[in-house]
Amino acid sequence: MTIKKTKLLQNTSSFAFDFINLTKAVTTFFSNLVRTRIFNSDAKRGPLFISWLCTYRCNADCLFCNASEMNKLHPETLSLERSLEIAHQIGRAKTWVVGFTGGEVLLWPYLFDVIHVLKQYGVNVYIITNGMLLKQNVEKIIDAKVDAVVVSIDSLDPQEHDYNRRRKGLYDFLIEGIKYLKEKRKGEKPLIKSMSIFSRRSYLNIEETITQLLKIVDVASIQPIVSDYVNSPHGIKKEEITSFFPEVEEESAIKNALGRLIKKFSFFNNFYFKNIPTYWFHPERLLKIKCWAPFLRLLIMPDGNVVHCAANSKYSSVGNLKDMTLMEVWNGPEIKRHREELRRGENNCICWSQDVSFNAFLYSLSLMNRLPVFKKHFR
Ligand SMILES: C[S@@+](CC[C@H](N)C(=O)[O-])C[C@H]1O[C@@H](n2cnc3c(N)ncnc32)[C@H](O)[C@@H]1O
Ligand code: SF4
Repeated sequence: MTIKKTKLLQNTSSFAFDFINLTKAVTTFFSNLVRTRIFNSDAKRGPLFISWLCTYRCNADCLFCNASEMNKLHPETLSLERSLEIAHQIGRAKTWVVGFTGGEVLLWPYLFDVIHVLKQYGVNVYIITNGMLLKQNVEKIIDAKVDAVVVSIDSLDPQEHDYNRRRKGLYDFLIEGIKYLKEKRKGEKPLIKSMSIFSRRSYLNIEETITQLLKIVDVASIQPIVSDYVNSPHGIKKEEITSFFPEVEEESAIKNALGRLIKKFSFFNNFYFKNIPTYWFHPERLLKIKCWAPFLRLLIMPDGNVVHCAANSKYSSVGNLKDMTLMEVWNGPEIKRHREELRRGENNCICWSQDVSFNAFLYSLSLMNRLPVFKKHFR
């Protein structure tokens, strides 16, 4: 157990933390906070994080996922030329991390061309995949110098996993892909991380699932089941997936399961993971948490539309990269309007997915909460 714990801690540094890279990230972070959060003025640097939802097409049809509906709203219409130009803009804007997700990213024909451009600028890149096409893409992943590959694995029971994902044979393919990637990679790059959905169906076994997953991957993480996110594949209606959401009377059992997980693996001992039950059962208690999303990150849709928020219907597209540059969108009137609302604490919403876990992290830093300069716009 101790060995695994140590390994886990060592491997949380998925990205290049060399001095130059870290200095770039810290500068982008503070430059954005001062210019966009304190003054709501033009940023000199682009977002610290970008989630590039490159396609909503998928070779699975998971019970809890809305990708097929999103594909109708945001079909993949960015050309190769425009995608490469956007990658150059991201690199020049000094973005620290770009995560590719969807849909199934390995179905996007331009994925590796775009990653090659991002790597010219030293951007950290991760991809999230269901693993169906992992094995056949291993050489391309290594050649493109992808920093981390995140594979979704919800259950160690192949039948249950394939049932949830409505794709027979998927579990076997993803395990084969992981093994092949481990065999072919040089050293520990790319880092291989599993992501399991924490839900009513999985919480009882979560400690065992993570223990077993750590025998095959470098880092094993979880993400709570969510619903009704308007700008994301997590937009499925709660009533369509009730069996994944815990009943009120399960709160203490869920807290116990999470407590055991945290005790065994210190990786989970932070504000974000500890408050998954609060998010499910008492979301109103989390409304006090500031949202830093429009000051730190953007999401690019397959049709070029850009949003900073996946969940709240008030915050739809802030521009389209087909006819605007990244910096025009990042400094545009629409995002500034949204920022103003968030600076005043008028968003009145809370979301709890991994890609915004930075909100929970920043909330847990007392400095960020006590600095008067960040507080003065709040109620
Ligand atoms: C939308 S998928 C896209 C990437 C890829 N197709 C995959 O499944 O890994 C990104 C992540 O979101 C997770 N996910 C999908 N629907 C979700 C939901 N309703 N709540 C929480 N996570 C969800 C998936 O399991 C996956 O880990
Ligand atoms: S979770 Fe991933 S694999 Fe499943 S349908 Fe959504 S995009 Fe496809």
